[in-house]
Amino acid sequence: MLKISNTEEVIFSPELVTKFNEIVSRYPEDKQKSALLPILHLVQAEYGWISTPAMDKVAEYLDLKPIEVYEVATFYTMFFLKPQGKYVLEVCRTGPCCLVGAEKIMKYIEQKLNVKEGEVTPDGLFSWRGVECLAACGTGPVLQIGPEYTYYENLTEAKVDELIDGLRLKTAENAQMI
Ligand code: FES
Repeated sequence: MLKISNTEEVIFSPELVTKFNEIVSRYPEDKQKSALLPILHLVQAEYGWISTPAMDKVAEYLDLKPIEVYEVATFYTMFFLKPQGKYVLEVCRTGPCCLVGAEKIMKYIEQKLNVKEGEVTPDGLFSWRGVECLAACGTGPVLQIGPEYTYYENLTEAKVDELIDGLRLKTAENAQMI
């Protein structure tokens, strides 16, 4: 994942632009705005979040006004407008999950990671946040981790330990292989 700040200019890689072009080619010639959502997803996958200069570049690429991109990026909660951890744990905080312990799970994650909601752990690996219903209400508490949006259901503190420790281990092993 490429690191960017909210002030530096963003230059999309040729590979990324090729992907943008492929998406735009799916729509009629003057309807390139339809490609905005999938393109924002690609930008987030590339950088982990969407900075203002990145939105400006998307606007330039799609020949839109920057405000048209800001409106969309700020409307959908799946887009991160500030840097996040490599893994973002999104815990359902809607009623049915709260009835079976979602709030306790969020508190536990906060204590285990030692960061508040929306903050990033010092190693850059994790951030977490509460989100609305993830449509797995019968198997709560539940969380998802993007960009693949893998679900973890029937959460307990032990399962959270297993998940977070497993991701730490996986990251350490991958780093050794490089
Ligand atoms: S209420 Fe948690 S998944 Fe629906």
